[in-house]
Amino acid sequence: MKVLVTGGAGYIGSTVCSALEDAGHTPVVLDSLVTGPEAFTRGRVFYRGDVADEGLVRRIFAEHPEIAATLHFAALIVVPESVAHPARYYRENVVASLTLFETLQALGQTRVVFSSSASIYASPADFRVTEASPLQPLSPYARSKRMTEEMLEDLCGAPGSGLRGIALRYFNPLGADPRLRTGPYLAEPSHILGRLVAASQGRQAAFEITGTDYATRDGTGLRDYIHVWDLALAHVAALDGFDAAFARAAATGPDPRGYLPINVGTGRGVTVRELVTAFGEVSPTPLSVRDGPRRPGDSAGAYADITRARELLDWAPRHTTAEALASALAWEAVRAERLKQATARAER
Ligand SMILES: NC(=O)c1ccc[n+]([C@@H]2O[C@H](COP(=O)([O-])OP(=O)(O)OC[C@H]3O[C@@H](n4cnc5c(N)ncnc54)[C@H](O)[C@@H]3O)[C@@H](O)[C@H]2O)c1
Repeated sequence: MKVLVTGGAGYIGSTVCSALEDAGHTPVVLDSLVTGPEAFTRGRVFYRGDVADEGLVRRIFAEHPEIAATLHFAALIVVPESVAHPARYYRENVVASLTLFETLQALGQTRVVFSSSASIYASPADFRVTEASPLQPLSPYARSKRMTEEMLEDLCGAPGSGLRGIALRYFNPLGADPRLRTGPYLAEPSHILGRLVAASQGRQAAFEITGTDYATRDGTGLRDYIHVWDLALAHVAALDGFDAAFARAAATGPDPRGYLPINVGTGRGVTVRELVTAFGEVSPTPLSVRDGPRRPGDSAGAYADITRARELLDWAPRHTTAEALASALAWEAVRAERLKQATARAER
């Protein structure tokens, strides 16, 4: 199947492209390269441009009329930046997505898989969230994801709408493609794994655990860390099983009215202290750790109930946290070379 992949030069989109190719599908990448590296588009059909450029999207479909579905990853994703520049986040994530969805609808497209986020959920007392759990997005970034879901839900539910959408709510992706084709591309990523790697390589004096007084089993924040390759395979499952997922949902519950939100995590919560211990076990260099205060805006966290992904998509995670951490370290060792090699090939 040919698939439009917006944001296909990014960390997750490019990894999903590899999983699609491994499964026999053909990605057609649309990316503005506002953050993703061009290197990750090498060897793939690639259009450089914005998802809000209706003329370009129409041209892509004219040149690839066999495209049967769209995976929509393109977005800005940095939470503190979204607090500083909310208008930019609403324009790039919400308004641009609306234009894309409208164009897809006008073109008669019927299948969209949207990258949503666990950051839209409230942190419940038992930390476990189903797709029906209360929502409480805490930042403009998280609210942009929630708003885009709401828009997609309304567009899909409108009378006569041919569009159907699956919103995959990602928990906390970690690691790289096991074959090291792609992975996190920034040298100094701000997320937890980037800070762990920096501390283990001596680029930071110590890894600081931010918050040790949460109501979790050891006081540190709890997250559901999913290997990015398992996340990639969830997209392949959502694509291959798109129509079946709607049929199953309708057969077992209320009519989904063209829209299905589905959690994608491991179904298991891991505390920051547990993650630090697991990282210490795979890291070749020792890690020094210190306890620090909570960061403003952080929550105690949540983990995914993944019953729906299992039942509707026949998908289940296959990798452990240790495997995700090991793949991240393996990727870190080749990252600069992989980005350079791809650039050198592009210049020939
Ligand atoms: N990384 C995470 O932890 C995480 C967690 C939950 C959800 N998500 C979602 O997954 C998706 C991918 O995230 P990622 O980590 O791969 O981020 P990323 O920044 O690596 O990838 C995003 C890609 O989208 C492109 N892009 C941005 N705006 C665009 C536009 N208007 N038109 C065309 N291309 C555009 C960027 O150049 C980049 O290549 C995002 O929608 C994000 O919100 C990510």
